Amino acid sequence: MKRKLFSVCAAAGIALFSGCGGTSDGGYANSSSSASNVSSTASTSSVSSLPANMSVGLSSLQREVRYLTDTAGMSLYTFDKDTLGMSNCPNIEGCEATWPAFTTPVVRDDFDTAGAYTSYYQHPLYYFSKDAQPGDVKGDDVKQVWHLVYPLKGFTETDEVKLSAGNRKQTYLTDKEGNALYTFDNDDVNVSNCYGMCEQIWPVFYDAVGDIADTYGIPAGLDPKDFTIIERDADRSEQDKQIAYKGQPLYYFANDTAAGDTNGDWVKGVWHLIEINATSVEPPKQSIGDVAKGETRFFKGCNNCHGDDGRTPALGISRVIAEIDDAQTVKALLTYLKNDGAGKSSFMVDVAQGLSDEEIDNLSAFIATLP
Ligand code: HEC
Repeated sequence: MKRKLFSVCAAAGIALFSGCGGTSDGGYANSSSSASNVSSTASTSSVSSLPANMSVGLSSLQREVRYLTDTAGMSLYTFDKDTLGMSNCPNIEGCEATWPAFTTPVVRDDFDTAGAYTSYYQHPLYYFSKDAQPGDVKGDDVKQVWHLVYPLKGFTETDEVKLSAGNRKQTYLTDKEGNALYTFDNDDVNVSNCYGMCEQIWPVFYDAVGDIADTYGIPAGLDPKDFTIIERDADRSEQDKQIAYKGQPLYYFANDTAAGDTNGDWVKGVWHLIEINATSVEPPKQSIGDVAKGETRFFKGCNNCHGDDGRTPALGISRVIAEIDDAQTVKALLTYLKNDGAGKSSFMVDVAQGLSDEEIDNLSAFIATLP
């Protein structure tokens, strides 16, 4: 990986900036900037399309998330087509009726209560008219431009806004090694405004395009036409090129140290993961079975075929069951093998038919915990 790490900070003599070595933005994230990624008419003459073998990927993350709601637990959303500090919803027919404004003043530095909308980091907040009760998140990912809000770690609730919990499978854009990529709200279409200190903290993504294996393509779910190569100001940056997604230049976050880290999401309210076909939040799944009893049962024979760690393809044909990390899925598979089993190996069907419902629950709970 060629990404620049944060240590370049000292080496490059940027210690002049007090922010060096920390997560301070050195003032680059000028939140009063009027930059808009909606209305800009930046020249696109320096934009070229990507080679077919570009180096992006997608990562999925099943995690418990905490998202912003009002005090009654009704979900709040942001709209990608808004300009920082200003809603574009009134300009779109039917928008205001479908996405009513959240107007309750919130007394916190990161909220702005001036104007018709209450904003979080200058992102106007909305309700979704089809959410009927607390816990509904039907507005999330609508047209891929409406999103729930995941405040940064350490966010504390106020008398006006609360956090609700749910399980969510998030699929977001990464490089091919699974390192998260971010967009910057203060950029313009196909134009980066991140230089100097900003670039140290948010290294430009222009990673190994063209010199990776030809076999690596664009993952399913992404359209190659959405990616472009843009030019950066070579006088101000070591990087003269950058990859953009739908016109939004892409960056790493220096404080992400491993694939799977997403520490940059919502930093300063202007840095965001790019969610691709995110699936909605569901309430946490009810847990089933007893893991310890399931473990005991597993080692009475299942391990002979599936391996002690659940990683042996049984009789050379089953999938690696340790990779199924959801107990309900294992239960559904075992129940099918027990009650029907059509088309499945008779060895496994025989085993499953000997399992009680309780054993299935316990085994499912255990198998879901296998790393
Ligand atoms: C004699 C070898 C054998 C034993 C013992 C065995 N399995 Fe299997 N298991 C298989 C085979 C073969 C398959 C693949 C079935 C198919 O897809 O045709 C399988 C499939 C499965 C699957 C579904 C995975 C998939 O392919 O979708 C689960 C879950 C599973 N076994 C769990 C268990 C558990 C739990 C036990 C112990 C109670 C167990 N197995 C014991 C051979 C075995």
